[in-house]
Amino acid sequence: MTEILPPTQDGVEQAAALLRAGELVAFGTETVYGLGADATNAEAVARIFEAKGRPRFNPLICHYPDAEAAFAHVVAGAQARLLAEKWMPGPLTLVLRRRTECPVALLTGAGLDTLAVRVPLHPVALALLQMVGRPIAAPSANLSGQVSPTTIEHVLDGLKGQIAAVLDSGPCRQGLESTVLDLSRRWPVVLRPGALATEELRQMLGRVDAGETPGAAPRAPGMLASHYAPRLPVRLEAISAGPDEALLAFGPPLPGAGAVFQLSERGDVLEAASRLFAGLRWLDSEGRRLGLRGIAAMPVPDEQLGHAINDRLRRAAAPRG
Ligand code: TXA
Ligand code: MG
Repeated sequence: MTEILPPTQDGVEQAAALLRAGELVAFGTETVYGLGADATNAEAVARIFEAKGRPRFNPLICHYPDAEAAFAHVVAGAQARLLAEKWMPGPLTLVLRRRTECPVALLTGAGLDTLAVRVPLHPVALALLQMVGRPIAAPSANLSGQVSPTTIEHVLDGLKGQIAAVLDSGPCRQGLESTVLDLSRRWPVVLRPGALATEELRQMLGRVDAGETPGAAPRAPGMLASHYAPRLPVRLEAISAGPDEALLAFGPPLPGAGAVFQLSERGDVLEAASRLFAGLRWLDSEGRRLGLRGIAAMPVPDEQLGHAINDRLRRAAAPRG
């Protein structure tokens, strides 16, 4: 059952309570409707991927009530602060390096060292974000491969019955997603053109590069610089493990490994998804500390979120250039 909540104090309070309890709530912004979850709760974030039917873990945008709250979680330099004065709130998403103490789940950023942050320019969304008091991870509230929703009818068409509630925020004014600007590299790069024109950014920053064309053929798997790959080699579909290997376990662990990280003892793909990136990172550092030669990953069923887990593991195991 998906509840439709009105844009009143009461509706916003109910939406906030659901989000804090780890439920999914769609809400409107000035660009498109977002499918929100508590970004610090990895299982809630895993549920976003499940509900959207995403075949892989794309990094999600984290929404905040103001720039100050966002910059408590990421490292903002002079350019980020300058842009924030004008465009936070606004249709601009900034990709910045995570702070070490950042409480956002690794799954939210698909395991990357960076995080995309945004402050929506919409009174209901801002009231909700203030009320929740936690960052909200939200991709567009549509099924994977369908167009972004700009009304609650669009949201319900795709996600009715799969999410706890929709906060009715009226139709979205812009109808086009936010512009995603990466400030974590040497030069600012527009990763996704959107509601804020690149020219406006150039006027403020000078040099701004256009990123990889959306939809262009991806480079060799595992080679995308922006994707986290463990430094230890990864072996897939392991049915045995040696003392010189670190084991990524799913279900009852194989005996004999030099180190073990359990994705889900009970063999639950949602739990496994929520622990995947933390597990890869831990095994990589622990394995190297112990002088192990690689990571052995036990098979994960290729169903529901298992698809996305296997996609990520295949890329981690692909030969490096
Ligand atoms: O207008 C919007 O941006 C909407 C509303 C709901 O805020 N959100 C949205 O999210 O469009 P989504 O998940 O559909 O698109 C997020 C985009 C993707 O292209 C993703 O690859 C990029 O942002 N992104 C997120 N985090 C990133 C990161 N750390 N590094 C690079 N790209 C990132
Ligand atoms: Mg989208």
